[in-house]
Amino acid sequence: MQGSWQNETMIYLDYSATTPPHPQVIARVSEVLAQEWGNPNSIHQYGQRAALAVERARLAVAALVGVTPEEVIFTSGGTEANHLAIFGIAQQYTYPQHIMTSAVEHPATSAPLAALAQRGWQITILPVDAWGRVDPETLRAHLQPNTVLVSIIYGQSEVGTLQPIAEIAQICRTRGIVFHTDAVQVVGRLPVDVPSLGVDLLSLSGHKFYAPQGCGALVVRRSVDVRPWLYGGGQEGGKRSGTPPVALLAGLGVAAQLAQTEFLPQVSQVRALRDYLCARLQELPGLRLTGSWVHRLPHHVSVVWTGGDGNHTGKTLVHYLSQRGVCVSSGSACASGKTQPSPVLQAMGYDDHLARCGLRFSLSHGTTYAEIDQAVTVLGEVLQQLTPALSCIHSSFS
Ligand SMILES: Cc1ncc(COP(=O)(O)O)c(C=O)c1O
Repeated sequence: MQGSWQNETMIYLDYSATTPPHPQVIARVSEVLAQEWGNPNSIHQYGQRAALAVERARLAVAALVGVTPEEVIFTSGGTEANHLAIFGIAQQYTYPQHIMTSAVEHPATSAPLAALAQRGWQITILPVDAWGRVDPETLRAHLQPNTVLVSIIYGQSEVGTLQPIAEIAQICRTRGIVFHTDAVQVVGRLPVDVPSLGVDLLSLSGHKFYAPQGCGALVVRRSVDVRPWLYGGGQEGGKRSGTPPVALLAGLGVAAQLAQTEFLPQVSQVRALRDYLCARLQELPGLRLTGSWVHRLPHHVSVVWTGGDGNHTGKTLVHYLSQRGVCVSSGSACASGKTQPSPVLQAMGYDDHLARCGLRFSLSHGTTYAEIDQAVTVLGEVLQQLTPALSCIHSSFS
């Protein structure tokens, strides 16, 4: 997507971070804000119109992932969906039990699990291979008699790796263990059919597929009991209280329909763009691809920059690229002004230095080959600009 910002042409290649709301989504959100703004709990006509808008959205989201509307619990997004899955299962137990997860989860999963660990829960964090994949047999071997939940991310946001979710679901099913997957990076980008995938709980987030930020859902299969995480007015079948954001959810419904008619039919074009970007990046010195190239999100390319040092990391590249109008991300967080190594890259065997040097490009069906060429040219110039500076710094210390 090319947009204009402060008179400069921008190239947006950060669709894993968020996507721009689709014009049809914006139109529907505006329409609801203007005309269907009632409280869906009200029994008068304003309320009933709003309730209808929410239920239409529920139908669309359910259709997108192959479940019944009753199995869709609306949340404020992926983070809340993961919390509802994790705490919704944990709250059924008087005493702490065992949960299994992976070393490459999004913080929206790993942080609530860390909070449970503080309360005495036993959390097994499964290792991954160099491509970021969990081995289902290792998972099977670590299950315990008191394992009550397995939570594994479907598509890894930083390195793009897809996990063997159907295989893991099968293992969990035979052991009667609830299986949750964070599919926030997958829904709207790859076809997802929850019944054939075999998962019990699945998180999705609207702003990853052209709906507004602040809306998402947890899919809860009928056989699974999830206790509420938010108590109050008993909305969402008592599982998630709070007046629903009708306009956002209506937008989510439109995005779910568009995913079926517009985004998913273009997945092979997006893959071709991804593979083209990947090939172009390999022309540049000092970049190494990360994540699996067989099991990979269709819109996602990630690399580590081997030419960085303590002061120049993936974040440095993001800043330089942004100044030149190219918007991408790096995986590492900043704490007290210092870039922290990415736990995901560390889990895949990268040392602390390289784990600070991740760079992610994420595409859409609207990305053009010209944008990719321009982004690669700019990155090549930035790398050239930074590399002599770095060799100077190094030689002055040697
Ligand atoms: C894999 C994954 N899970 C969860 C989230 C959180 O979703 P939200 O921003 O809707 O809370 C994100 C957001 O980047 C994500 O990539």
